[in-house]
Amino acid sequence: MDIDDIQNRRLFLRNLGVLGGGILAATSPWLSIFADVKDTSGERLKLGVIGPGSRGRFLMKFLAKNKKVDIVAIADIYQPSIDEALEIVPTAKVYKDYRRLLADKNIQAVLVATPLNTHFQIVMDAMDAGKHVYCEKTIGYDMDQCKRMYDKHLSTGVVFFTGQQRLFDPRYIKAMQMVHDGVFGEITKVRAWWNRNNDWRREVPEPRLEKFINWRLYKASSKGLMTELACHQLQVGTWALGKLPEKVMGHGSINYWKDGREVYDNISTLYIFNDGRKMEWGSDIANKFYGLEEQILGSVGTVEPERGKYFFEEIAPQPAFLQMIREWQQDIFSDSMFAGTSWMAETAKPNHGEYILGKKPDADGSSLLTEAFVEAAITGRQPAGIAEEGYYASILCLWGHEAISRGEALDFPKEYCIDYDVYGTSEYKTDLA
Ligand SMILES: NC(=O)c1ccc[n+]([C@@H]2O[C@H](COP(=O)([O-])OP(=O)(O)OC[C@H]3O[C@@H](n4cnc5c(N)ncnc54)[C@H](O)[C@@H]3O)[C@@H](O)[C@H]2O)c1
Repeated sequence: MDIDDIQNRRLFLRNLGVLGGGILAATSPWLSIFADVKDTSGERLKLGVIGPGSRGRFLMKFLAKNKKVDIVAIADIYQPSIDEALEIVPTAKVYKDYRRLLADKNIQAVLVATPLNTHFQIVMDAMDAGKHVYCEKTIGYDMDQCKRMYDKHLSTGVVFFTGQQRLFDPRYIKAMQMVHDGVFGEITKVRAWWNRNNDWRREVPEPRLEKFINWRLYKASSKGLMTELACHQLQVGTWALGKLPEKVMGHGSINYWKDGREVYDNISTLYIFNDGRKMEWGSDIANKFYGLEEQILGSVGTVEPERGKYFFEEIAPQPAFLQMIREWQQDIFSDSMFAGTSWMAETAKPNHGEYILGKKPDADGSSLLTEAFVEAAITGRQPAGIAEEGYYASILCLWGHEAISRGEALDFPKEYCIDYDVYGTSEYKTDLA
């Protein structure tokens, strides 16, 4: 569907069933940026992109198509990135030093897509310069930086978005609406993982650029899989449960890619909520069979938003002839050790589930996320919850990383609680503060 203009976006959200009836406010309040709009169709946002590398250029492709945006400048310290970005925006001004871009008074907003260890200073400087900021996740290199960035957003009043595209992904929005409506019963656990089978390396033109290009693999510039991958998926768990965990434990190791990297290639973490519910997160990059997913497990059903499906525990009985075959199989296996009385009942029929949106997913929320940022930056209106969800997503992965590094179970660091009560459960603050 073409979602270029406000009318279409509203229609799109209405079709999702997330407009009206209080659902929007309860589940994904940041979508209000599309719902209660004023007409901004004649306005154009002057945007600068800092760090137009792989992610930055991916987002620039959406932004360059957006009629409300002029990407007037880019800043990068690496010429090949600048050259590739200029293919998307040939007339953009080029800066090597991002501070010169920030000094341009015409620029109203910036997209920051540099490596993790550089976000903090750039975002702080950008907010001090009065620019609205979209910063890629994870926002800060440590929890203290994240808090200072969030506080700076509050004190300067600029719009602050983070690169959590699931918050604008129709699959996730609809899945959360169903979860919060109780469609899957009582949610007791969230299991999430992101597996790959590759070394996660980028080609390096000259050896001296190894740490610059492969910044993800080195401790000074990255916290590895936690900050690159867990950040997205942990947020899904807290979004589903509407609260923060109170404890975390975990383990990380380098098992397979022993190639000089400093960050783990094999991680398991466990986040525990105050009522005993759990969120498991793990990543292994030497086996991709199970890919990535966030499973939200309820007493009545399961939802897997990444593949866009949900499954009920009880499914309709299968046709009689298939039941007959199953009964024969049951007879054949009834004496064997592995088959028990529960075997037939639990595997009687493959449960293929249903698509959350009625069809196979074909895009993520990145495009809508950039549109929302543009809308917010033009109106100067910060949508509820967006900075806070991004902030806590970053805190969760960095806190987990700390538990792994220290080899200890850690309590939620209360000094990083913020005043956030968006789900009306109060548990983002009162349980922990
Ligand atoms: N939301 C997502 O799904 C998603 C996906 C991929 C990456 N990311 C995030 O995007 C960010 C960038 O990742 P990437 O894969 O594009 O990395 P990248 O290495 O491809 O790009 C980073 C760019 O920043 C430039 N840069 C480095 N230091 C700079 C500085 N001081 N000033 C200006 N430019 C500088 C580099 O030259 C490069 O062009 C990271 O925070 C990453 O976690 C998010």
